[in-house]
Amino acid sequence: MIPNEDAFKQYFSDTDHALLMEQLRTDQIPRHIAIVMDGNGRWAKARGESRSFGHAAGVEALREVITAAVRLGVGALTVYAFSTENWNRPQEEVDLLMSLFATTLIKELPLLMRENVRLVYLGDMEALPIETKETFEQGLSETNNNTGMVLAVAVNYGSRAEILRAVRQISDLCCEGKLSSSEITADMFSRYLYTAEIGDPDLLIRTSGEKRLSNFLLWQCAYTEFYFDEVLWPDFNRWNLIQAILTFQHRERRFGGVKDGLSE
Ligand code: FPP
Repeated sequence: MIPNEDAFKQYFSDTDHALLMEQLRTDQIPRHIAIVMDGNGRWAKARGESRSFGHAAGVEALREVITAAVRLGVGALTVYAFSTENWNRPQEEVDLLMSLFATTLIKELPLLMRENVRLVYLGDMEALPIETKETFEQGLSETNNNTGMVLAVAVNYGSRAEILRAVRQISDLCCEGKLSSSEITADMFSRYLYTAEIGDPDLLIRTSGEKRLSNFLLWQCAYTEFYFDEVLWPDFNRWNLIQAILTFQHRERRFGGVKDGLSE
């Protein structure tokens, strides 16, 4: 449910989008939304600007989406900020992104505190430059007692690496005789993933017209609804988010079961 009706009405009052808001079912907001924020580079190129300009604009879009998600009462928002494959980008861009993560986190910590958001990190933090790693650690510890929306940031995250890490941990337990293979269930396996505490996304949004998962939450997306938006990430705003949620609300989720005699 919407946590604060007044803040919600204020944030989403816009005559141009009144029709959109009338259709929204505020009691059926997806609990967990995941986003592949794609298109920063193309957005910058279209303006004759550098890729770093596009990433900086991407941060502004993220800030708006975090605020909107809090107002909507979303339980968890997961964003794909840097994949295990993104290390293959030119060193200059990798350095820029790593420093952007650190400066953004420091700058936006007051926003996370004000909005009662708890930061969660998905991925392998060890490979990050020390400054970026320490900033994430600071963000995790400062927001640790917040009780509102969880913001899960995937940095140096790859779903295959995450699954292999879980397999290794579980097989170690088996080798040590602490676990038998018959005890390995899907629920149990999920607890060994980075997403253990936030669970699977209900809705996954990818911007910029690309229609791939790109090694993001492969296990967790088994029954997730996908929404692909042509908009480049820096242009994605609260109304694009509402449109994605409206589309989600019109989907029929059967989780492999049947409804009205129709099988999946
Ligand atoms: C994809 O666009 C975007 C990224 C790889 C970076 C996204 C990161 C942010 C928006 C900053 C987030 C900050 C924090 C602290 C989480 P692209 O470069 O692949 O765009 P292109 O496909 O048009 O080239």
